[in-house]
This record gives sequence, C-alpha cells and structure tokens, in this order.
Amino acid sequence: MENTCVYIAPRFFENELKKELFYLDIPVLRQYGRFFYCAKTPIRPVWAQNTWNLPQTLPILSIGDAAKKLKAVQRNWHSHPIDFFRRVKLIEEKLPPIRFKPHTYGEPIPKTKLGAWTLLDTETLLYSSETSSPFPNGEVNFIENKTEPPSRAYLKLWEIFTLCETYPKPQETAVDLGACPGGWTWVMAKHKVDILAIDKAEITPEIQNMPTVTYENKSGFSLLPQDFPAVDWLLSDMACYPERLYELVQKWLEKGSVKNFVFTIKLQGENTKESIELFKTIPNSSLIHLSCNKHELTWIYGEIQKNFQKKLDNNRANN
Ligand SMILES: C[S@@+](CC[C@H](N)C(=O)[O-])C[C@H]1O[C@@H](n2cnc3c(N)ncnc32)[C@H](O)[C@@H]1O
Repeated sequence: MENTCVYIAPRFFENELKKELFYLDIPVLRQYGRFFYCAKTPIRPVWAQNTWNLPQTLPILSIGDAAKKLKAVQRNWHSHPIDFFRRVKLIEEKLPPIRFKPHTYGEPIPKTKLGAWTLLDTETLLYSSETSSPFPNGEVNFIENKTEPPSRAYLKLWEIFTLCETYPKPQETAVDLGACPGGWTWVMAKHKVDILAIDKAEITPEIQNMPTVTYENKSGFSLLPQDFPAVDWLLSDMACYPERLYELVQKWLEKGSVKNFVFTIKLQGENTKESIELFKTIPNSSLIHLSCNKHELTWIYGEIQKNFQKKLDNNRANN
C-alpha cells in the first residue's frame, strides 16, 4: 500500500517509539507490542530498530498459498508474528530455509535482500520486500567475546562500526571519555589505535597494559580541545547529563580537530524528548538506537556519519 510503513521498536522501548511517532504526527494504524503499522511513507524515527519500507497487504487462501506468494516475491524472509503464531510458523516452514547465524565482528554485513512479513488476520498477509536493516528486526546478534573485554559495553562500538561499515585503522588516534572499566578502549586497542582512556574511576589493569593504551584518571570535561592537534576518534560513554555532553560536543566541534565522534547519550527520565531534539539540531550528525543500547542513544558525526548516511541514501534509492 502506498504511504504506509512498519516500524519495529527496540525491545522494551515501545513507549519511546509511540511517543516519538505522536510528536512526528505519524498516524499509527495498528500497534501490536513492538510492531507499529503507520500511515505515512517511511522516515527514520530515532526509536525504530527496523523499518519495513514497502508494506503490501495480500489476501491468502491457505498456508501453502501464503508461502507461494512470498516465494514469488523473493527468497529471503523473516517473520514478525503479532498473532496467529501457529499459522505463521506453518507458513515459515514452507519458505526456503534461512539460517540467521550470529554475526562475527569484522565480517561484511549480509548483502542479500531481507524482507519481513506478518499475518494481520488469518487471511491477510502484510509483507515488505525491503527493510532498513540486513539483520532480522534490526538486531545484531554478535558472537560475543566473553573473556577479554571487562564489560559488555564493547558491543556498542562493535555495532556502530558494523552498521556504518567503518572501522578504526591501526595508528589512528582516539580519546575515550568515561572509559572504565575498559570495554571501548579494548575495542580500539584491538584495532591497534593509539588511545587515551579518561575516567574518574580506575581502569582494569589488563586494559591499561595493552600496548597502545594510555590511561589518565580525570574528568572527561577537564580536557581542552586545543591540547589535541588532531583526533581520529573522540568517544564518550560517560554517565552524565545530555545537556552537559552537548556543551562538550560544541567545544570539540568548534576546534574542528576530530575526524569521528561516537557518543552515547544517556537519557534521563522525563527530559528524553528535549535531549533528543538538542542533538538532532547538530547538522550532519545522526542519532541511532543500537540494538544493544538500553535507555540511551548513540550520536555519530564525521566520516562515520557520512558512511551511515550514504547507506541510508542507497537504501532509499533502491526502493
Ligand atoms: C557506562 S560506563 C562506561 C563503560 C565503558 N565505555 C566500557 O566500555 O567499559 C560510564 C563511565 O563514565 C564514567 N564517568 C562519569 N562521569 C565522568 C566524567 N565526568 N569524566 C570521566 N568519566 C566519567 C564513570 O566513571 C563510568 O566509568
């Protein structure tokens, strides 16, 4: 159907998407849990984990008929059942098998077109041959490293680098604000980046001992951009108020010496909308909810954001 789309909210954040769609004046035709069927052409709400760009409804006569009709469109599908779970499962069993293997960090992201579908009722299929993410429901399921990184926060950098297909290169420089216990610093050090880790807390000794890591025990807000001639990666995962972080971003942007920013915006209770609007006003930047983010968003700027934007534009051009 023209002028419709489906947004899938991140797990546990349906209400964030619901509020955002309301503020964006996007009418919701039907909502089932994380599934929002909307009456407008797709944009990219911050709280959408995945978008079905071209939803179409189709009457079906039987389970076999549904599978036949989906196969006639393309090979690869994932289902997002909202009801009629048994019927969805039976249709799924008649579709070509597709194994969603956990993703190995650093490997190229899947390039085959992945469609999504559901049953609106027992006789109506809703499907979209195009979705915004190559991963089912926009969730990147990594093979985790459970031994080396001292926290699971490393998954945020893995995910953003993977989605943007932009990875740090050996001998680049990075400053990691709020680095402890050391997950992000570990990711950068594994890429052989020269990294300055800053935190008011103590860093894990194994991370501090990695060859390219320097650790300083101080506040991330005390650094002066003019003391850093060039930085390839300015990272922040500091637990702090978004407004304070926004001021810090402005200082570094003014200096113009940073090639890539990756910042976690930790959202606080009621002021979520204001914080999001603040960061959205920064031109040529993007706010993303990663599948491993909790009540927080990832803000990117610079080369990494350009690559992200290019992928969005390609996705749109193909629709
Ligand atoms: C979520 S943790 C960061 C996790 C880290 N990225 C990792 O991968 O292990 C948040 C950190 O922010 C630090 N922090 C909070 N305020 C800070 C400040 N003003 N300056 C530096 N670090 C700060 C805390 O000490 C804490 O270690």
